[in-house]
Amino acid sequence: MTVTVTHRPEAPAGPPKLDRDQLLLAQQQTLDTPRMRYGLLARMMFKPVDLLYGKQGSYTKFAMLETIARVPYQAWERMGYWAVQRHAGRSALARRVFERIVEARADQDNEQWHLLIMQDLVQRHGHRQTWLLHKAAPWLISFFYYHVSWMLFLVRPDWSYRLNAEFEDHAEHEYMTFVAENPGLDRVPDPGTYAAEYGHHRSVADLLRQVGHDERTHKLDSLRNMREPRLHQAARPQDG
Ligand SMILES: [Fe+2]
Ligand SMILES: [Fe+2]
Repeated sequence: MTVTVTHRPEAPAGPPKLDRDQLLLAQQQTLDTPRMRYGLLARMMFKPVDLLYGKQGSYTKFAMLETIARVPYQAWERMGYWAVQRHAGRSALARRVFERIVEARADQDNEQWHLLIMQDLVQRHGHRQTWLLHKAAPWLISFFYYHVSWMLFLVRPDWSYRLNAEFEDHAEHEYMTFVAENPGLDRVPDPGTYAAEYGHHRSVADLLRQVGHDERTHKLDSLRNMREPRLHQAARPQDG
C-alpha cells in the first residue's frame, strides 16, 4: 500500500511573504516600536560590528550580520538532536523537540537566503570586501556566538532564546531604518536573483522590508520559545 504524505512539517515555508501595503505597514510598525533592551552579550557583538562596519547600515554590514545570524539556530539544532536522543523513549516529547529542530533548520535556511541576497547586492554595487573584515571577523564573532548559544542553552535555554531575540530585534531595526534613510531604494528594481526561492519584490526597498519582517518573525519565535524553554519540564503526563 502506498501512503501519501501531504503535510510535510519538516519542510516549512518560512516567514510569510507580505504584499506591498503589508511591507510598508511592517516598516512603520518597526520604526514605531522601541528597540529591546540589549544585554551585555548582545552589546559585546553589536559594538565591534558598529566599530568595524560603521553605525549606518550598508550591504556589506548586512552581509556580515547575516553570516552570524544563523549561528544560534545551528547551535539549537545540534542541541535538539542530542535531546531527541535522550528522550527517545518518550515519543510525544521527542516529537515536540523535533518540531523545534525543524523550526531551527527552517530559520537557518531563511538566514541563508538573506545572506545570498545581501552578497548579491554587494557584488552588484561593486563594494569591496576584505579578508580581515569579511572573512576573519565574521568567523571570530560566529565562533563566539555559537559557543555562547549552546552553552547558554544547556544552563539557561531562556537566556539563549533571549539573546537571539535581541539579535533579531537589532537586525529588524537595522533593515527598516536603512530603508527609511534611503528613500531612493523604492525606485531601484529588485534584481530578483533569488526570485524563485525567495520571491520577487517591486523594489530593493521592498526586498529589504521583507527581510526585516522575517527578522521580526524570528524574534517573535524566540520570545515565544523563551516562555517554554525546556520542553521536558513542560511535558504533560501523557507525553511519557
Ligand atoms: Fe537575516
Ligand atoms: Fe533572523
